[in-house]
Amino acid sequence: MAVVSAREMLLKAHKEGYGVAQININNLEWIKATLEVVEELNAPVILGVSEGASKYMGGYKNVIGMVKEVHDFLNITVPVAVHLDHGTYEGAKKALEAGYTSIMFDGSHYPFEENLEKTKEIVKLCHSKGVSVEAEVGSIGGEEDGVIGGGEIADPEECRRISETGVDMFAAGIGNIHGMYPENWKGLNFEVLKKVQDVTGGVPLVLHGGSGIPNEMVRKAISLGVSKINVNTECQLAFAKATREYIEKGLDKKGKGFDPRKLLKPGSEAIKEVIKTKFKLFGSTGKA
Ligand code: 13P
Repeated sequence: MAVVSAREMLLKAHKEGYGVAQININNLEWIKATLEVVEELNAPVILGVSEGASKYMGGYKNVIGMVKEVHDFLNITVPVAVHLDHGTYEGAKKALEAGYTSIMFDGSHYPFEENLEKTKEIVKLCHSKGVSVEAEVGSIGGEEDGVIGGGEIADPEECRRISETGVDMFAAGIGNIHGMYPENWKGLNFEVLKKVQDVTGGVPLVLHGGSGIPNEMVRKAISLGVSKINVNTECQLAFAKATREYIEKGLDKKGKGFDPRKLLKPGSEAIKEVIKTKFKLFGSTGKA
């Protein structure tokens, strides 16, 4: 199967009551590890790429080219979408032009009417090319590749109006933050989540900041209409930990242990383990 839009996989997940993972990719190791594991689990996946990660990996065209090549090389048969994460107005247009199959336009920092107008325009552009769109209302707390959000709770009426633009998925701030959660975190606001799902007429909802949310909260969020859960930090921490252990054991100094193909292998395996645990929790294994 070719690299596809996220629309169909999210509609199916929403209908059947499970969550599709958005795994943010950071380099070639992430692309390979994620694609290998989703094929093994027979699960759909959305590869999230922030603008910063796109730049780090050599630009939008290189990212889509790399994913497509690895995808074909590994004979991947499950649905895979390449999704711009927290795209700016300009970035969304560039990623669309380059061939991303799904776009998040994050206009949450604009005054509401401007967010609405810009989202409408991006939806029109993306849908003319069969590309799915995610919008955001109420910012997600914490920092994601230089995009800093204060963790504002979404206004359901604003969510309703944005959902009328025809977006395919919708991120509403419900107390979630990027990065690991502090000890005194108040948890997800399920009241708002419920209201948002009611007023948006059943648009699949997105839960950002998927790292470190207790399992029972994740399950409850899925039961209330969340169909996409974004995970980045937990994979990064697992990768760093495994790489550190390899070096601390002195394995890079043994034989050809310094070869990046060996040095980065424990990290890649660690990413796979995190992904497997998340897919099991989200209920998406076997759902391709
Ligand atoms: P975490 O880094 O907290 O997993 O969040 C990822 C995310 O929401 C990407 O948009």
